Amino acid sequence: MRVLVIGSGGREHALLLGLTADPGVDDLHVAPGNAGTRSIATNHPVDVASSDAVVALAREIGADLVVVGPEVPLVLGVADALREAGIATFGPSAAAARIEGSKAFAKDVMAAAGVRTAHSEIVDNPAHLDAALDRFGPTWVVKDDGLAAGKGVVVSADRAAARAHAADLLEAGHPVLLESFLDGPEVSLFCLVDGTDVVPLLPAQDHKRVGDGDQGPNTGGMGAYTPLPWLPEAMVQRIVDDVVEPVAREMSSRGCPFSGLLYAGLAIGADGPAVVEFNCRFGDPETQAVLALLESPLGEALDATATGRLAELGPLRWREGSAVTVVVAAENYPGTPRTGDTITGADVDGVLHAGTKVDADGSVVSSGGRVLAVVGVGDDLAAARAQAYDRVAGIRLAGSHHRTDIGLAALEGRITIP
Ligand code: GLY
Repeated sequence: MRVLVIGSGGREHALLLGLTADPGVDDLHVAPGNAGTRSIATNHPVDVASSDAVVALAREIGADLVVVGPEVPLVLGVADALREAGIATFGPSAAAARIEGSKAFAKDVMAAAGVRTAHSEIVDNPAHLDAALDRFGPTWVVKDDGLAAGKGVVVSADRAAARAHAADLLEAGHPVLLESFLDGPEVSLFCLVDGTDVVPLLPAQDHKRVGDGDQGPNTGGMGAYTPLPWLPEAMVQRIVDDVVEPVAREMSSRGCPFSGLLYAGLAIGADGPAVVEFNCRFGDPETQAVLALLESPLGEALDATATGRLAELGPLRWREGSAVTVVVAAENYPGTPRTGDTITGADVDGVLHAGTKVDADGSVVSSGGRVLAVVGVGDDLAAARAQAYDRVAGIRLAGSHHRTDIGLAALEGRITIP
């Protein structure tokens, strides 16, 4: 099978690595890719927000399957264009991608499906902001009602900080979503979804704040681990039964069935799981850890989802043990990152590229905020952490930073469900 992956991050590098391990996949392409994907796939410098350009590339290389990684092309309808061209595609239609692209749509689907989530209000008029803030908090949760790559979210007990973020969004013309704060540890559960059929992957936990101890601003994700030793074994099935399947059924009945990867971000509280957000694609950096433990052929699973045969797939098989991803970020991330710095030590097992490119002189340089995603695998969480941090220690990138506590709270038994 010839597979084309769309995207350029650590998630896409992880998808490509997973696909290389599938004997049914014999030719790999990526658009646009990064400096790390070159060694396992052919990189194509294509504008992935352009449906015409992606369809033309898929035709030119004769792709049997296209896997769309990021949310932006999905929300713009790239998967629709590929399907209309008769190409098997992993990723939802633009109508179904609204589950991530419009928080208001997601809330409406969840209300109709009876799925627990935070109470929310949309504010689109600055004159209504203060009264709305008074109906929430503390803690305030302020989101951009659109795509913001995690960085559009401010969670703060400081009303002035919450207000300032909301005011900035409104000034930029973005409606603001205020939400009640959900208590309890967070879980990312990724599910392959094909209409009303659902196959869960391993549960993972992201670390969204930039600094150790969950300090500092939100990011796209600074690290992750899987599985979750503190999560009761029956919880994954409960999330599938109470959250993912009802949402999938509701979307099908609205005429926008979901096909692809539905990412449920949940808080596990005293009353069970409640949805923090849905995403319409694999999460980053959880995917790098989750796929490191996958034993089933990845291409077969993605192809079964894309071609409406997920019900025939059966449960996925996983390696015993744990996996940890540590993100190495550029100086000043999540602010405007410093780029163009030479990276050394990144050409080793477990080091996945995200914001990297090849410079004119052939050296590998940083080109984005999250530069590398470094993965360790081991028989337990301690061993996986040790391997990931050993690998991080071998990387040189001027000004870079990473969290030193990925998976640590879980390892030390400090995560409890209220
Ligand atoms: N892990 C956060 C995200 O993928 O949005």
